[in-house]
Amino acid sequence: MKKLRKAVFPVAGLGTRFLPATKAVPKEMITVVDRPVIQYVVDEARKAGIEHFIFITGRNKGVIEDYFDVQFELYETLRERGKLAALDHLNELQPKPGQTSFTRQQVPLGLGHAVWCARDLVGDEPFALLLPDMIMQGETNCLTEMVKLHERTGGNIVAVQECDPKETHRYGIVGRGADVEQGFEITEMVEKPAPDTAPSNLYINGRYILQPEIFDLLATQERGTGNEIQLTDAMLRLQAQQNFYGYHFTGRTFDCGNPEGFVEANMAFAMARPGMHAHVEKVMRDLLGESAPQERRTGARG
Ligand code: G1P
Repeated sequence: MKKLRKAVFPVAGLGTRFLPATKAVPKEMITVVDRPVIQYVVDEARKAGIEHFIFITGRNKGVIEDYFDVQFELYETLRERGKLAALDHLNELQPKPGQTSFTRQQVPLGLGHAVWCARDLVGDEPFALLLPDMIMQGETNCLTEMVKLHERTGGNIVAVQECDPKETHRYGIVGRGADVEQGFEITEMVEKPAPDTAPSNLYINGRYILQPEIFDLLATQERGTGNEIQLTDAMLRLQAQQNFYGYHFTGRTFDCGNPEGFVEANMAFAMARPGMHAHVEKVMRDLLGESAPQERRTGARG
């Protein structure tokens, strides 16, 4: 079995839900605590052993390429000023020369079309696909667990989580079959089904390991839900030829594609950051009009 080396990040979306910010800043570059959303997703891929990072960009997304480049003058200034911890941190996050590729989705025809744009850069090997709107927090790294499952089963892997059964129309939904290793067989896949037709409440959370045969199917894929070329529809056709397995991720996923999920991600990642937990907790209590437990006790005594 070919080793999983490459990951694709579709970052061409317009980000209309983040206007006015996205007039000038790609939504993937908006920060959660102190780093852009895209950094969390790239970090997840790197931790899972990915060696090459392929970005499907679009117009006005050039800053993403700049972000992953070496900022020579900045690094020199940090060195001169003795800010070596900051410099080390930047170096840790920095992709090595030749580890990134960028290509543009010229027309916004949907996720399936964006993935198809990566066909030459991926070539004839399995690849990971990470949708940068979704960032995760948990005891395990979602893609690492998917890689482990893939090493045992081969085929294609899709990560899923449970959603409110009333929300199935917002996601791709899978049908659950027999358990296989640490995952399960996927029996069907539907893009954004109404709650009464959904095969389950297991939604596709934006992490995939796919075989390269998906590209030929995407090339002929007709438009589906939302009049867009849907990845889920092409996966369903690939399922006629190859196995698909589900990996049930049990951590938290934040949908940074909308402002609510983004604010939630900021709160959760700030709470998890060493040294910030107490501060965020205090601010939240203040905003909610509650006093901290210590003050409450003092108040009661007084
Ligand atoms: C895409 C996929 C969908 C998946 C979702 C996760 O939809 O098509 O299957 O559940 O991402 O975020 P989109 O959010 O682009 O509409």
